[in-house]
This record gives sequence, structure tokens and C-alpha cells, in this order.
Amino acid sequence: MSNQKICIVGLGYVGLPLAALFSTTYDVCGFDINEKRIEELKNNKDFTGEVEDLENLNIEFTCDPHKISHADFVIIAVPTPIDKAKNPDLGPLESASKIVGANLKDGAVVVYESTVYPGCTEEICVPILERESGKKCGVGFKVGYSPERVNPADKEHTIDKIIKVVSGSDNDTLEKLADLYGSVVTAGVHKASSIKVAEAAKIIENVKRDLNIALVNELALIFEKLGINTREVLAAAGTKWNFNSGEYHPGMVGGHCIGIDPYYLTSKALEVGYHPQVILAGRAINEYMARHVAETVVKELGALGKVLKDSCVLIMGLTFKANVPDTRNSQSKRVIEYLREFGLGVLAFEPLLPNDAVEEGFGVKNIDLEKAGKEFDAMIIFSPHDKFKKYDLGVLKNKMKENPVLMDIYEFYSKKEAEDKGFIYRCL
Ligand SMILES: NC(=O)c1ccc[n+]([C@@H]2O[C@H](COP(=O)([O-])OP(=O)(O)OC[C@H]3O[C@@H](n4cnc5c(N)ncnc54)[C@H](O)[C@@H]3O)[C@@H](O)[C@H]2O)c1
Repeated sequence: MSNQKICIVGLGYVGLPLAALFSTTYDVCGFDINEKRIEELKNNKDFTGEVEDLENLNIEFTCDPHKISHADFVIIAVPTPIDKAKNPDLGPLESASKIVGANLKDGAVVVYESTVYPGCTEEICVPILERESGKKCGVGFKVGYSPERVNPADKEHTIDKIIKVVSGSDNDTLEKLADLYGSVVTAGVHKASSIKVAEAAKIIENVKRDLNIALVNELALIFEKLGINTREVLAAAGTKWNFNSGEYHPGMVGGHCIGIDPYYLTSKALEVGYHPQVILAGRAINEYMARHVAETVVKELGALGKVLKDSCVLIMGLTFKANVPDTRNSQSKRVIEYLREFGLGVLAFEPLLPNDAVEEGFGVKNIDLEKAGKEFDAMIIFSPHDKFKKYDLGVLKNKMKENPVLMDIYEFYSKKEAEDKGFIYRCL
């Protein structure tokens, strides 16, 4: 097996760590259409921060699609976003399938890792591979689906330590893929009975996460009106053995997966004549939270008698979650838009992103907190990066005007200490 050649197509948060893992045992080539990304990887630079020792890895990085034709296994890990109407945008998946189809070795196995709705691999991707390659699936090439379950920035649950679900277009392919992934994933593999089962298994992981967060966000909205602290309620409820407290936290849902994947399933459900209600209700609550965060700040500033158009809010952290430089679908962008609708000035402090990325991506200036004076009327701790630990409440207080408001979404700071220091403190 170890003389097999593998090509990973799409070298982002998923594809690069996968290439790194396979390169410990196999001859690996990494293909991406983004020339800048390939140049950076060739120079051992990875903006995602997911792979640390790039210089010691033996991976051939390339933009040349012909290299794909040397591979016995082609693994596709390209983005699966949604469009403005929240329908699946299969553009990258279709384009990758075209490139792979046009460069497919006889007898190769093409494995999709991108998150899709059940049926997508066989209904959308396989026909493209067949058309472009001129080969028949099951005869000239085989297909598999093995969803990626990696959690960026999580140094504990690394790719090799997460059981890999594998599936294939026939039994022989399933066994081949179980051997391939099983040879590098120490946690082992789970053989799904079909490609559709594996596709569905992945998507419901994220539907479930989205709904659990939506449930707690709704509880947080209710408890806020009742004057109860949500985290204190969760701590008490979590003492029951089956509450699964690790699953339930209020928060902002952004990124490339949890807030996106449910729409892949709901669009497929609509296509087959079922109108999903619970899944979309969860999405609506999680989408509402950006407005709620902005309105909380506005209401507090209004209650203090501050003139909104003369007030300035600092957003600490803009990325979709703590400690990753990933800005995709970060709800901070919507918080900024809502604050601006009320006439507020908005600045950001995001040490994980270059200034031009903040200005282009979010339309706000990225300031250096250490150089800031007493400038802000309110602060929102949006992505609670570890890097913020060096700024205690005393440091923050020195950056604030009179009667400062602190919207601390994840209770990064202590409520009591913040109030003792004179902050008007709010959290979810
Ligand atoms: N990021 C995560 O945490 C995560 C976790 C599990 C699953 N997934 C799923 O994995 C897939 C990939 O996500 P990601 O976060 O790695 O995306 P990403 O945007 O970080 O990386 C995708 C890469 O694919 C490249 N690409 C786009 N079109 C291409 C094409 N036609 N040919 C070759 N390369 C192409 C892009 O240039 C980019 O480098 C998605 O379906 C996502 O839902 C992501």
C-alpha cells in the first residue's frame, strides 16, 4: 500500500493537514488552483497555522493539474459554501471534479472529503468525473466519500485521533479506503454502508451542533429577560449525568461549517418535498444573535444617555472563533453593520489578522490596543483569543471613556471584577 501515490486537491484548513498526515507514509502531491497558496506552501508558510513543521514534510505542492494523473487516490477537499440566497454553491466542487476528471489515472479512486448533502457525490460529482475522463465509474475509476471532522485550532483532536468514516461506490473500494485511512488514522475507521450514509452522517454532526447552540441561545434570550445568568443555569443543569453539558453553550455561529452545512441539508430536503422546520428555526435564532449583541450595546449606551453618533465601540477579535485566523462567515461583520446602522463608530483590535485584511474584509480600522488612549464607550469581546489574556480589566478600563459598557459574549472576563472596576457588564 505504501507505494501508492496520493493527490490531495484543495489545500486549505482540511486538505493541508490531511496531506501532512498521509505524507508520513505515502508519496503525496498537493494540488490547489490558488497560485499564491502554492507559492506560500512551497516557502513553508501556512496562514491557517494548522501544520507546524511544513519544512520537514515531504509533499510536492503544485498548481499543475497534470500531476493529478499520477495518483492512485485523489482526495478532494475544496470549499462548499452557500450563495446569497443560502443555497449550496457547488461551484468549487464541480470545478475540482472537472479538473480531476480531465486528469484521472485508469483505476484511480476519487474520494470526496468536502461536506455535502446526501446524494451530492453520486448525483453531481460522479457524472462530471465520467464526462471529463471518458471513463465509467465502477469500471475506469472508483469513488468514495470520507467526511472530514477536523476542528481547526484544536490541538487535542487532531486528524489522526478522530475516527474516520469511510464509504465507497462498491465493497472493494470501501475496503481499499478503510485500509488507506486506517494506515494513518490511529483512531481507526468506521465503514459506512453507502456514500449517502457517510454524507448524511457528516452533515448531521454540524446540524446537531447548530441546533444545540441555537437552543442555548434561545434560553439565553429568555434568561436575560428573567435576570438569570445562563452559564450559571447550565452549570447547575450540567450536574445531571445525561445533560451532556460540553455540548451546550450560547455563542455566535460562524465559520465554514456549522452555520453553512445545515442549509445543504435543508435545500436537499426541500428538493424532495419536505419543508424542514426545526433546522431552519435553529438557523434563524443563531443568525439573530449578531443583531442581539449589537442591540444590547446600543441599549446600554442609550440608557447612559450617550449620543450614539459620538460613541465608539471597540470589537476585540473578529475571526469566527477564538485562536484561528479564519474569518469566513464571522458574525462580527454583521455586528459591525448593525452598530453602524445606529450611527456608532466602530474600531477593531484583531491581532490574528493583518491590517489590510481587517479593512478589506470588515470595513473597520485595526488598531493597536496598546497605543490606544481613553477612546471607547463600549467594548465587545467577540473572539476571545488567548492573546487577550495579557489585557486584564485594569488595562481595558484605561482605554475606556466614562461609564464603559463591556459586552463579553463568552464571559472571558469575570462579571464581578468587571462591575467592581466600573464596567456595565453584559454577556450571553
Ligand atoms: N474548516 C473546517 O473546520 C472543516 C472541518 C470539516 C469539514 N470541512 C469541509 O471541508 C471542505 C474544505 O474546507 P476548508 O475549510 O479546508 O476550505 P478552505 O477554503 O480552507 O480550503 C479549500 C482550498 O481549496 C482550494 N480550491 C478551491 N477550488 C478548487 C479547485 N477547483 N481545485 C483545487 N483547489 C481548489 C482553495 O484555493 C483552498 O485552498 C468544506 O467542504 C468544509 O465544509 C471543513
